[in-house]
Amino acid sequence: STSDPLKVVISGAPASGKGTQCELILQKFGLVHVSTGDLLRAEVAAETEIGNKAKEFMNAGQLVPDDIVTAMVAARLSRDDAKQKGWLLDGYPRSLGQAQSLEKMQIRPDVYIVLDVPDEILIDRCVGRRLDPVTGKIYHLKFFPPQNEEIKARLVTRPDDTEEKVKSRLSIYKQNAEAASSSYSNIAHKIDGSHSKEVVFKEIESLLSQVQQDKVKILKSG
Ligand code: AP5
Repeated sequence: STSDPLKVVISGAPASGKGTQCELILQKFGLVHVSTGDLLRAEVAAETEIGNKAKEFMNAGQLVPDDIVTAMVAARLSRDDAKQKGWLLDGYPRSLGQAQSLEKMQIRPDVYIVLDVPDEILIDRCVGRRLDPVTGKIYHLKFFPPQNEEIKARLVTRPDDTEEKVKSRLSIYKQNAEAASSSYSNIAHKIDGSHSKEVVFKEIESLLSQVQQDKVKILKSG
């Protein structure tokens, strides 16, 4: 129903496949994608005040201060398209403080997805990742190489995707993950993210379809 659109949070370690699954979820469910990583990278590229502040933290593999990120998320989620189509929040909340900020703003997801992937796989995925600055698409040198030489030539590596920085990002993730997700235990669904992206998506797709159906039922009965 358009009056109560789907609200989804997707979480998981660095390179667990959040961005990749978001591309597929958007195609099927038409939600507004709100990725704090993408929003921050756009600010950095545009050399805005926010971008200049965020850059040093991001390049070091550390979290950007909460106030900056929370203001960005609040602004994006309050826009009409997000209210009408529903949203897919990717990379936020990432700490207890951020989860509390959402709660204070009375922003509550219907479902909280956790992509679960072993550490060894994560490092490989990060180090081989390449981004297409023209389309925003995510590639991987080994797992999802680009279709042609033209795309291949323009791909860029994220400055925080070196093995050393990935390890630091992973350890920060582990320090925060439990606290960040603690308020969502009743709507949390862990999904094995180590399979192929199609297999992972099938599981997410059936979960989200179910949540969507349940919402329609509640609307009709209420
Ligand atoms: P962000 O961009 O959110 O980075 P991240 O959480 O580390 O996640 P990634 O983007 O690295 O990975 P992903 O899970 O999206 O994986 P992907 O699909 O690309 O944040 C970056 C930085 O911004 C943070 O470090 C921080 O500084 C700042 N920031 C962001 N949010 C913040 C917040 N809330 N608070 C404070 N600071 C914040 O996949 C990875 C690779 O694997 C790709 O190459 C892909 O092709 C490949 N792959 C994906 N799925 C599969 C599969 N099933 N099989 C094989 N390969 C796969």
